[in-house]
Amino acid sequence: MQINFTDSAPDNVRLHVQIVNEGDGLEGIDEVLAEGAPTARFRGKPGQVFEGFAKIDGELRRLAISGAGEAGADNRRLNLERAGAALTAKYLRSGETDMVLDLASAVEDAEEAGAALAGLCMRSWSMDDYRTKLSKEKKVSLETVHVINAPEGTLAAWDRELAITKGVDFTRMLVTQPANLLYPESFVEVCQKMFKDTGAELTVLDEAQMEELGMGALLGVGQGSVRESRLLAIRWNGGEEGEKPTVFVGKGVTFDTGGISLKPGPGMEDMKWDMGGAGAVAGGMLALVGRKAKANVVGVVGLVENMPDGNAIRPGDVLTSMSGQTIEVLNTDAEGRLVLCDALHWAQEQYDPEHIVDFATLTGAMIIALGNEHGGVFANDDDLASQLVSAGKSVNDKLWQMPLGPAYDKLIDSPIADMKNIGGRGAGSITAAQFLQRFIKKDTKWAHCDIAGMVWSDKPGHAHDKGATGYGARLINQFIADNVE
Ligand code: BES
Ligand code: MN
Ligand code: ZN
Repeated sequence: MQINFTDSAPDNVRLHVQIVNEGDGLEGIDEVLAEGAPTARFRGKPGQVFEGFAKIDGELRRLAISGAGEAGADNRRLNLERAGAALTAKYLRSGETDMVLDLASAVEDAEEAGAALAGLCMRSWSMDDYRTKLSKEKKVSLETVHVINAPEGTLAAWDRELAITKGVDFTRMLVTQPANLLYPESFVEVCQKMFKDTGAELTVLDEAQMEELGMGALLGVGQGSVRESRLLAIRWNGGEEGEKPTVFVGKGVTFDTGGISLKPGPGMEDMKWDMGGAGAVAGGMLALVGRKAKANVVGVVGLVENMPDGNAIRPGDVLTSMSGQTIEVLNTDAEGRLVLCDALHWAQEQYDPEHIVDFATLTGAMIIALGNEHGGVFANDDDLASQLVSAGKSVNDKLWQMPLGPAYDKLIDSPIADMKNIGGRGAGSITAAQFLQRFIKKDTKWAHCDIAGMVWSDKPGHAHDKGATGYGARLINQFIADNVE
């Protein structure tokens, strides 16, 4: 979908829309809407849309207003995103190809305009690539939004929002791709294409190189798959020279069958999005690179496929990680931590980060605890955790802090190796986090975000349709904007 800023509405466009605040009254709005809206109980609440038709100068016009809540509301930015998103949700497949969005009412400044446009744009993403028989009525029709009366500075604000939106869309695309098409090598290739000529520096490690480095845990997970494993690092040096980078690490299990500890069949298809952490990191990096963030940032993703096979790791096997610590694999389905422990160790050695934050669809237990409303954040530094929670809150990638502690750590001691890869029945998300913490160096600030419940949605939400939410890309971008730039 194209956003086109213009001085006046092109005259052949039928659909004209406006954003209105709750409590502002409807003066200046076409009388069909001003009189009709109250009868339909339209109040201007965020996400509420009212539509009417009118004859204007002999032409049929389709008119709509979208509510943004009260002008002074705390969560104003998110309300404006919803106002924008509600419009695309309604008109994306409506048959209309063009829409005039008049920003004269409701929107106060360029930032507010940018928020509404971001919502509008994010909600327009869909992937119909593999639907060859989609009926005409169901196809995306909306192509261009003509924006009039944009406040001064909206163009610059939109530049930034567009870069972020592209990051979110990239995350969604990666998450949506099926695992026969998106596997470690093709994930790398897509990133190489996406970051070409952006100034970002990409490093790829293949299996031989990881073997050399001693990444026995990550490679152990991938050894049952015919797909080769990869480690990818995306580096952006937008900050001061010599400034320690922020490093993000993502779990990129392109498909998780569980391995020899095979998962049950029903619902296993969901495990194509077990690379949602890696997708968030890649999309977050694309947003940062796209808007040329003034920060040094690295995104590292561990890419493997977890399959059962004659060569796969078995329950009871002992693996040696790059850190030298040994791991008894009691359940081959607890594979994400095995991938992350080597990726985290390598990232710390390689980049000496200021802080390191990982994203992973790590445990089903996280969904039991927090549902699909919040990801869980575990950290060895409470300030880092609050910074992440607050960045997440402002972009609607919500996080909730969870505990760590020595008593939980004990639960993963092993009788034969340094640790085992599962704890007991209780606190499954916490024991997974404790496992990761064993690979974090003393004095390195670290946070782990378990986003198992957040990357996929079976219903439309804030600014996404059902399916991939794009969770994490905006959180990463916002965290850098708030705390590093
Ligand atoms: N990828 C899964 C976690 C997951 C489950 C993500 C459902 C999203 C939706 C992870 O690799 C896994 O299988 N975890 C196990 C851990 C257990 C064996 C200790 C789980 O959560 O059951
Ligand atoms: Mn698993
Ligand atoms: Zn997994």
